Amino acid sequence: MKIPFNLPPHSHNEEKYIAQAIANRKLSGEGAFNKKVVEWFKNHLRCEMAVITPSCTSALEMAMVLANIGPGDEVILPSFTFTSTANVIALYGATPVFVDVDPKTLNMDVDAMEKALTPKTKVVMPVHYAGVACEMDRIMALSEKHNFIVVADAAQAIFSSYKGKPTGAWGHMAAYSFHETKNIVCGEGGALVINDKRFVDRAEIVRDKGTNRQQFLNGQVDKYTWQDKGSSYLQSELAVAFLYAQLEEGEKITAQRLAHWNQYHQGFADLEKQGHLTRMQVPGDCQGNAHIYYFNCKSPEERAKLWAYLKENDIQSTTHYVPLHSAPAGVKFGRVAGSMKVTDDLANRLLRMPMYADLTKEEVAHVIDKVHAFYKSL
Ligand SMILES: Cc1ncc(COP(=O)(O)O)c(C=O)c1O
Repeated sequence: MKIPFNLPPHSHNEEKYIAQAIANRKLSGEGAFNKKVVEWFKNHLRCEMAVITPSCTSALEMAMVLANIGPGDEVILPSFTFTSTANVIALYGATPVFVDVDPKTLNMDVDAMEKALTPKTKVVMPVHYAGVACEMDRIMALSEKHNFIVVADAAQAIFSSYKGKPTGAWGHMAAYSFHETKNIVCGEGGALVINDKRFVDRAEIVRDKGTNRQQFLNGQVDKYTWQDKGSSYLQSELAVAFLYAQLEEGEKITAQRLAHWNQYHQGFADLEKQGHLTRMQVPGDCQGNAHIYYFNCKSPEERAKLWAYLKENDIQSTTHYVPLHSAPAGVKFGRVAGSMKVTDDLANRLLRMPMYADLTKEEVAHVIDKVHAFYKSL
């Protein structure tokens, strides 16, 4: 039995909606499916605005333009994240300030973040690792007290929630990913969700190459001109038609993944009791979306052996981020605030199991059996 790490989900209406988009003869970011997906976000999150973007990276970049960061500004983020979270800060000449993560969730340690605040802190970027939300109530309370903007990296968090609200509804802005490795996909894609009204007017200009084209389309001006900094942040109608089909079945896809997550979690409980590994946790305030199932091995050496053993058995498990504070560009553009003990330790011990909607119960059981066989062989 060969089990890959990921396969993109398939929903029923993808081909039909792409054919409709072609027939509509409107293929840019202003087509009917773009409008439907924007409405979907507004209904799902109760946000002020949503922009469907070519990637989560471009959504984060747009958020940085809206936050107006530049040289001399600092942006706090966890070191344990994808390069995109930090790269968009460096692109605009601001300084990424790396903090440690909470060992329970691998999300930004809020105490470490608070200690890292300086008068230069303009933005804080919590990352909802594995789709499990950060402590957003504490982060938002600190943002009011210290006056920084919160841009959440919700790349992995579609259909998860925190304190009863969808995760992306937390923060002044939040960025989702629909890359083929995510729960809901359209190949390459993302969305910037704006929850704070004060960014809406500029967002209409920034997303459209810095022009007031939206006002032109609304009939408010008779020509459109260059008004502000901006870029091309709208996604093609063809990809968004595919995305709409996926969102329609998003709850079903999430439920399938959650069933696999629960099966893994129960299947590894005895190994945790025996002290072989530590399973991931989802705090009580969070409803997860089963984006990832991971556990922490006892040592980097044991992880390397288990990883190789699963590979020999045709099971593709995988590690995750190389901490950014120790990566060449992290050293060049960023700085560390406080200890990186948890990040340095857990990044070397974490292993992710195969996870995708179409996995079968038998396949998950097979992975669980093989992990048990490995520990028996020690
Ligand atoms: C936390 C995080 N942020 C950003 C991204 C980038 O997403 P995209 O490929 O849609 O730009 C990823 C992708 O894996 C991610 O995991």
